Amino acid sequence: MTTKIFSIANQKGGVGKTTTAVNLACGLAKQGIPTLLIDLDSQGNASSALGIERVEDGSLYNVFLGNEKVTDKIIDSGRKNLDMIPSEPDLATLESVLLQQGGNYLARLREILAPIKRSGKYGVVIIDCPPALGLLTMNSLAAADYVLVTLQCEYLALEGLSQCLGLIEEIRESKANAALQLGGILMTMFDVRTSLSKAIVDDVAKMFPKEIFKTKIPRTVRLGEAPSYGKSIFEYDERCMGAYSYAALAKEVIKRFALK
Ligand SMILES: Nc1ncnc2c1ncn2[C@@H]1O[C@H](COP(=O)(O)OP(=O)(O)OP(=O)(O)O)[C@@H](O)[C@H]1O
Ligand SMILES: [Mg+2]
Repeated sequence: MTTKIFSIANQKGGVGKTTTAVNLACGLAKQGIPTLLIDLDSQGNASSALGIERVEDGSLYNVFLGNEKVTDKIIDSGRKNLDMIPSEPDLATLESVLLQQGGNYLARLREILAPIKRSGKYGVVIIDCPPALGLLTMNSLAAADYVLVTLQCEYLALEGLSQCLGLIEEIRESKANAALQLGGILMTMFDVRTSLSKAIVDDVAKMFPKEIFKTKIPRTVRLGEAPSYGKSIFEYDERCMGAYSYAALAKEVIKRFALK
């Protein structure tokens, strides 16, 4: 199996990165694709959203430092086809430690994930990034085949997008990952009642007709509630709009990237 690595990124906070990482990973797993979800944000929201208890030394921290093996960090999420590497607060200090170490610190995660890619155990690896343009996000982009950008359907969304595109360009030019591609743009928290939501989707669709996903994620209370129960939207309420939307996104991703 070829493994495709997706980085879910946007330096803006609260734009649906984690909600998408978690529910897309679960949606793909439900479709029979062996999936690995990596929580690269020290906030640990993706881990807690799936009810994964944080355990000391559970994160990639020591793997980044070369002290431990990545395969020892993979845990069973308790769901069919879905494994996870959780986050720990220690990731918050990792960036400064990496900087002090010097060397090719942009390519660390790429090296770390190489054995996972070679093993072909997973069809997909999804990395949830922190809301920053720091070293962890850069490492994630350097390790990824595709970036998926989540954009909240709100004012200034496009400004965030152009910063993301700038970063992708930077990573390509730095030779850290010349093959990096913008895999898709996902419009999140779409509000059917506002014309602003629709206007923003139209703008993005005009500029990025190929990249924008047909599936839009609506703003729904259920999607906001599910993480506090440690459940994906499919486990929390399989028959809500949020679940239908993320199921549709999973199908669109499978088709776009020929995952089956
Ligand atoms: N479609 C949605 N409808 C309603 N609430 C949502 C939706 N998507 C996300 N949320 C809620 O909005 C908040 C921010 O979402 P999320 O954590 O996914 O964003 P993020 O980009 O990962 O944030 P951060 O940058 O802090 O990591 C969360 O409380 C989440 O539950
Ligand atoms: Mg997040």
